[in-house]
Amino acid sequence: MSAVTATGVTVHYGDVLALDDVDVTIERGRICGLLGMNGSGKSTLFKSLIGLVKPDRGTITLHDKDPALARREGLVAYVPQSEAVDWAFPVRVRDVVAMGRYGGLGGARRLKAADREAVGAALERVGLADLAGNQIGELSGGQRKRAFVARGIAQDARLLFLDEPFAGVDKRSEATIVELLRSLRDEGRTVVVSTHDLAGVPALCDEAILLRQRVLLHGDIETALAPDNLGRAFGLDGVVA
Ligand SMILES: Nc1ncnc2c1ncn2[C@@H]1O[C@H](COP(=O)(O)OP(=O)(O)OP(=O)(O)O)[C@@H](O)[C@H]1O
Ligand SMILES: [Mg+2]
Repeated sequence: MSAVTATGVTVHYGDVLALDDVDVTIERGRICGLLGMNGSGKSTLFKSLIGLVKPDRGTITLHDKDPALARREGLVAYVPQSEAVDWAFPVRVRDVVAMGRYGGLGGARRLKAADREAVGAALERVGLADLAGNQIGELSGGQRKRAFVARGIAQDARLLFLDEPFAGVDKRSEATIVELLRSLRDEGRTVVVSTHDLAGVPALCDEAILLRQRVLLHGDIETALAPDNLGRAFGLDGVVA
C-alpha cells in the first residue's frame, strides 16, 4: 500500500527548474530520508506533495487520494523548514497543537473534551506538557519542531512530512525527535524527513532518496550513503578524485 506516489513531477519557479520529472513511491509505515544539497528541491518536493506548490507536470497521490483531499481528511501533517514560519505570531504552544484538531487557526471552534484530551496527550508525548501555555516564539528551535510534530499527533496524521527538523537542534533534542518519529512509524505511520545530518540517517531512516532536481537514487540507506552516490548528490563528482 503506497503512502506517497509522485509521477513525472516537474516544477519551475520562473526559469529555475526545481524538480525535473520526479518519480517517487513510498510505502506505508516507513521512514524515508530526503537527502540533497541546498537548492536540490527538497522543500519544493514537500510543498508539491501537500499541494502548496502546483507542479507544471505530473501527478501526486497520498494514500491513493488527491493531496487536497488527503489534507482535508487530516491524513497529512507538515513541519516546514523553520525559516518559513513567522515565530512572532502570538499563539501559545497548546493552540498550535490544537490546530491539529480543527485544521486551522480559526479559533471559532470550541474544543470538546476529546479534543483537549488529544492535545494534552500529544504534548505529553513530545515532552512539552510543561510549556503548553508558553508563546510558540518563546520555545527553542528543537522544542518548536516538537510542537509541530505534536500538532500532527493530535491530528492523528498518517503521513508526516518534516522539512529539516534537525537544523539548529542539539544532539539530545535530535535523539528525542528521532525516537519519537520511530515510535510513530511503529504505529504504521509514514514519515518523510529531509535532513543534512547524514551521520544521523542510519539511526533514523528505513530508506532514502537522493535528490538533485531529479531522483538520483531511492533505496536502502547503505546504498544511499555510499561515497559515489553521495558525491553525485552533493555535487562533489569531479571535485574529489
Ligand atoms: N519561491 C521560490 N521562488 C523562486 N525560486 C525558488 C522558490 N523556492 C525555491 N526556489 C528555487 O528552487 C530551487 C529548489 O529550492 P528548494 O527550497 O526546494 O531546495 P532545498 O533542497 O529545500 O534547499 P535547502 O537545503 O537550502 O533547504 C532553488 O534553486 C531555489 O532557489
Ligand atoms: Mg529546503
